[in-house]
Amino acid sequence: MVIDLQSTEYKRYTDLARSILSERQRYAYVVTFGCQQNEADSETIKGVLADMGYTVTEKQELADIIIVNTCAIREHAESKAFSLLGRFKAQRQENPELIIGVVGCMAADSRVAEALRRDFKYVSFSLEPNRLFELPEAICKILTSGERNFQTGKDNGDLVEGLPKVRQKKHKAWVSIMYGCNNFCSYCIVPYARGRERSRPSCEILKECQELVASGCREITLLGQNVNSYSADIPFYELVEKIADIEGDFIIRFMTSHPKDASDELIALMAKRQDKIAPSFHLPLQSGSDRILRKMNRSYDTERYLSVVDKLRAAIPGIAISTDIIVGFPTESDEDFEATLEILKRVEFDLVYSFLYSKRKGTPAAIMEGQIPDEIKSERNSKILELQQEISYKNSLGYEGKVLRVLADTRKKKDGEYIYQGRAMNNKSVHFKSTDDVSGEFVNVKITRAAPFDLYGEAEK
Ligand code: 5AD
Ligand code: SF4
Repeated sequence: MVIDLQSTEYKRYTDLARSILSERQRYAYVVTFGCQQNEADSETIKGVLADMGYTVTEKQELADIIIVNTCAIREHAESKAFSLLGRFKAQRQENPELIIGVVGCMAADSRVAEALRRDFKYVSFSLEPNRLFELPEAICKILTSGERNFQTGKDNGDLVEGLPKVRQKKHKAWVSIMYGCNNFCSYCIVPYARGRERSRPSCEILKECQELVASGCREITLLGQNVNSYSADIPFYELVEKIADIEGDFIIRFMTSHPKDASDELIALMAKRQDKIAPSFHLPLQSGSDRILRKMNRSYDTERYLSVVDKLRAAIPGIAISTDIIVGFPTESDEDFEATLEILKRVEFDLVYSFLYSKRKGTPAAIMEGQIPDEIKSERNSKILELQQEISYKNSLGYEGKVLRVLADTRKKKDGEYIYQGRAMNNKSVHFKSTDDVSGEFVNVKITRAAPFDLYGEAEK
């Protein structure tokens, strides 16, 4: 159910917090691990904290409150979050009033919440990812009575609209269109941590996009675990078309697309609206072996996957396709792995994100027989990196001498000159010189040099 913020206790607790916090300036520091969805959630967390009267800071040492927005997708991300918490312990000893809270996917796991409650006495609360509207309540409990709280299992599938945001950038924005996932790929913790799919009403998304464009935003990235199964009042491609119809100089990106749901209508729309929809597509393959794909519960085979790639390339010439690969899924044999390498050679992806399979407690794959030793995973991963380096370099060389439209993002001064970094429409990373201040603007860049994952050039006058 879609719930309006007004009908929750949000306002009561933000008002209460503001009255408690008003005696002096209080600072909030937010740390973000993981995916773009978490980046987007952190903008909401900052918005809520600002609403409560906190000043958001990048300086950890100033913090009166620290929020750690965690990721549970792989064990490595979890251990990084725990060790970071360990480092905040000393700060808390110096300042006993410091509030430390844990949110994000780890906070949805009752075992993690219990471990935090029991073993991390200096952590004040944890809050599941879909309950950010309860952040003021969790913080007020600490402020008023010192009551620590670590609830899990409260997510009932509701979706709360209207939370404030402090956006990181003016020219680029994340817009979440849906939350959760119904796919239950056998290795993945996301459906357990973020619950079932729920889509925001299209009118809310459109309103947000219109406001962003009106305030000068040049790039909108629509976010969801599986954007193609967006299903509120209209299907995903219609939503994208409506956003493309907003007047203004901006582009649309979206991620992530599940190969089983990438529709012909969406591909046709991308071909038709190349003025607004960026020619890039993230299409996670995970494995090139049909046997492993079945064990992963991915609901497509390599033939179906390759047919989507072919359709995309036929409809949108020059489109950049990127993918995710999991290396060392249980029972992955040398032949299975070779099949993955073969697809990488056949498709020649623009970018490949490869991950060593990581056991996630509670997922079916974690208890499968035939777990692969870490050394073999690492060896296989090196082979992917080596192969992809070659493919990406060959691909990059093809851009030398060409002019690409780039959205200037970050700016650094080097030897008295400004060097910008940004992304071309096809998502290639481009570094370029410009004598004008082009921050946050589209610039035509002549490419003079290629490296495997980056291009270098100069802004055209
Ligand atoms: N181990 C390794 N990689 C994983 N991913 C998801 N779950 C796991 C896991 N248990 C990868 C998938 C997904 C990406 C976001 O993270 O490739 O597409
Ligand atoms: Fe995880 Fe699969 Fe859902 Fe992606 S589609 S979030 S990999 S379960």
